Amino acid sequence: MATLNSIAQSLKNKSILITGCTGFLAKIFVEKILRVQPQVTRLYLLVRASDAKSAKHRLDKQVISKELFRVLKDMHGDGFDSFLSEKIRAIAGDMAMEDLGIQEFHLKEEIMKEVDIIANVAATTTFDERYDIALDINALGADRVMAFAHRCHKLQMFLHVSTAYVCGSKSGAMLEKPIRMGETPNGQNNLDIEAELRLVKKELKELQARGVEKTEETAAMKELGLKRARSFGWPNSYAFTKAMGEMLIGESKRDMPLVIIRPTIIEATLADPFPGWIEGFRTAGSIIMSYGKGRLKCFPGNVNLPLDVIPADMVVNAMVVSMVAHSRQSASFIYHVGTSKQNPVRTSIIADCAYRYFSRSPLKGKDGKAISVRKPFLYTSMDDFKKYMNFYYNMPLQGLRLANLALFNIYGRLYADLTRKYNFIMYLAELYEPYVFFDGSFDDSNAEGLRMAMKAGGVEEAGLFDFDPKCINWEEYCMKVYYPGLVRYVMMQK
Ligand SMILES: NC(=O)c1ccc[n+]([C@@H]2O[C@H](COP(=O)([O-])OP(=O)(O)OC[C@H]3O[C@@H](n4cnc5c(N)ncnc54)[C@H](OP(=O)(O)O)[C@@H]3O)[C@@H](O)[C@H]2O)c1
Repeated sequence: MATLNSIAQSLKNKSILITGCTGFLAKIFVEKILRVQPQVTRLYLLVRASDAKSAKHRLDKQVISKELFRVLKDMHGDGFDSFLSEKIRAIAGDMAMEDLGIQEFHLKEEIMKEVDIIANVAATTTFDERYDIALDINALGADRVMAFAHRCHKLQMFLHVSTAYVCGSKSGAMLEKPIRMGETPNGQNNLDIEAELRLVKKELKELQARGVEKTEETAAMKELGLKRARSFGWPNSYAFTKAMGEMLIGESKRDMPLVIIRPTIIEATLADPFPGWIEGFRTAGSIIMSYGKGRLKCFPGNVNLPLDVIPADMVVNAMVVSMVAHSRQSASFIYHVGTSKQNPVRTSIIADCAYRYFSRSPLKGKDGKAISVRKPFLYTSMDDFKKYMNFYYNMPLQGLRLANLALFNIYGRLYADLTRKYNFIMYLAELYEPYVFFDGSFDDSNAEGLRMAMKAGGVEEAGLFDFDPKCINWEEYCMKVYYPGLVRYVMMQK
């Protein structure tokens, strides 16, 4: 590991190509770099768009205008716009295409000549994504970025953001180890990515030959992804294809310095640039907000198991520190960035805090009245949760359906509304089952080593790049940071 003298200083005069910056995590990464090292040469931000103008428009609207950039804006005052126009460049592209879909020859040449670091953060993060799309972006797309990296003249680091759940549906301690090509969580080790690609092609051809509607094609492709993932021991097409992405880049990296960051469930920032910033309903957030809105009276989740949630700024800090630490080292380094090993938080604490928070600060319903919440009940298994939902919701719903039929549809709207809510809760529960009932912990010995190296190196800005989960006070985080953040930035979209 390179000595960690000064992390921010190492970013001076560097050019970085970043994918996925219209998304949640990469925006925080972009903001952090610009704030801690204003003398970074340039950030090339790959944005899915057809041309430079629309890429710039997306960047302005979906990234720079976010409240996340408030602190940076205040730092630069009137010079903010000129600072940004000098430091960042929106690049129209698409990871689903060769050369990342960058059309302009001169721009592509410039990037290949200039970039020192590539941070591949982009992914399709929908858990039950269509198999063809998830394969194309999370697996092949990651490999396309690696192919691009090989053509960059002076690249020092390829940073790839994966997920801790590439381990699949297993229990026990998950290690920060590479996944070998073809390795599967069920131990069969018989995954053949080429065969999966052929299967997808064949299924698509058959569906198209049958002339099915797009919605039916999508449903079939989602189903195929889930089926294939589960057959090898992954919970969904997202984790499955992210694992394939790791396998592919692991094979094609050759002597490229590679860091793979595997975060667990990323939620609101703990401190940086300010506490509570979050975007979009994510795994734990959607369950919590459904509870606050009174749609969910109980939580699927085992009281005794930790829910591995990590604040987004800690993930970003780990990304920055690891890419600086391993620049120019032609090896692979894998880091779990989570909390279950160092400072686990039990699901019961998350649920209990949600009860206290929404009792004190209730959300308002459409009628303007406060939504009252009851102490949530935690179901220790998915079967128990399904039984509860069936008894208290589905059976009365079926009664309502019959009454509605007998009474000439007078309860039609009510029945449709309640059915929609019931289906939504069941959808959430099924989707998040592998995460809320995950019976394992993520060993983070490598990450701990990196933290120790940072401290031993006497890095002045250690606080600025802290990613030690031991410092999280979970009650305080839930009550004062995370839940208020969900309400302010996700629900009210501030
Ligand atoms: N959020 C979590 O809890 C979590 C946990 C563990 C790991 N991770 C990993 O962290 C990374 C970032 O996650 P996130 O939560 O920030 O995801 P996100 O909000 O869903 O953002 C995904 C980003 O990827 C981009 N993208 C998707 N397909 C693309 C393509 N074909 N070409 C170019 N860009 C494309 C999206 O662009 P568009 O705006 O054009 O769609 C978006 O900018 C991902 O690699 C994810 O697997 C996330």
